[in-house]
Amino acid sequence: MEALGIDIGGSGIKGAPVNTATGALIEERLRIPTPQPSVPKDVAGVVRQIVGHFAWTGPIGVTFPGVVLDGEIRTAANVDRSWIGVNGRELFGAEVVNDADAAGIAEVKFGVGKGVKGVVLMLTFGTGIGSALFIDGTLVPNTELGHLEIRGKDAEDRASDAAREEKDLSWGKWADHVEEYLRHVEMLLSPSLIIIGGGVSKKADKFLPEVKLRTPVVPATLLNEAGIIGAALRAL
Ligand code: BGC
Repeated sequence: MEALGIDIGGSGIKGAPVNTATGALIEERLRIPTPQPSVPKDVAGVVRQIVGHFAWTGPIGVTFPGVVLDGEIRTAANVDRSWIGVNGRELFGAEVVNDADAAGIAEVKFGVGKGVKGVVLMLTFGTGIGSALFIDGTLVPNTELGHLEIRGKDAEDRASDAAREEKDLSWGKWADHVEEYLRHVEMLLSPSLIIIGGGVSKKADKFLPEVKLRTPVVPATLLNEAGIIGAALRAL
């Protein structure tokens, strides 16, 4: 089967048709900058542009960086607040799924989480921190573990990749923040495996060796494409 996956991020909206049996992109992905402010009408316009670019008439899956319940957007921590209460399924004419859940779905089906039993946690480090929790490969959606409180602050304000850039933290210093956060998550969930996704997964060698945890922590393998692939899987 084939489906179009579209990944809405804080800075870019990316899409490509995906072979859902293999997880491979069928065509080169298209990336369009996220409109600012990222209001529903303008973002929906970009989604339509991507659908038009691929002349797509088949199933479509779209990710969103917030809680999505039955197609309805419930939170919008890093995009325009006017998203809250919008029915994404109706707006896009597509299945809508939380961005980290989509990335996790792809990693568990085709990437480093494939075949791993027990509790597997994917965490994406980007503008925010996204989470996707799996038990024997089944997703528990919308876990939002990036908003756990660490030292009196939202965890993503201390340990997201955006926090590293904004505060100009060295990789080593940022690794300390990430480790502290992961220890908290480990204490709560005792996962068998933690997968690190988001843009930083490409630079895992810069910080992962500094992150000391009992739980195995590995970088995601699908990199930037996990969201697109997971969205496409969800479309079916
Ligand atoms: C949002 C999550 C999202 C994550 C990554 C967080 O701020 O609350 O829903 O998955 O950012 O984009």
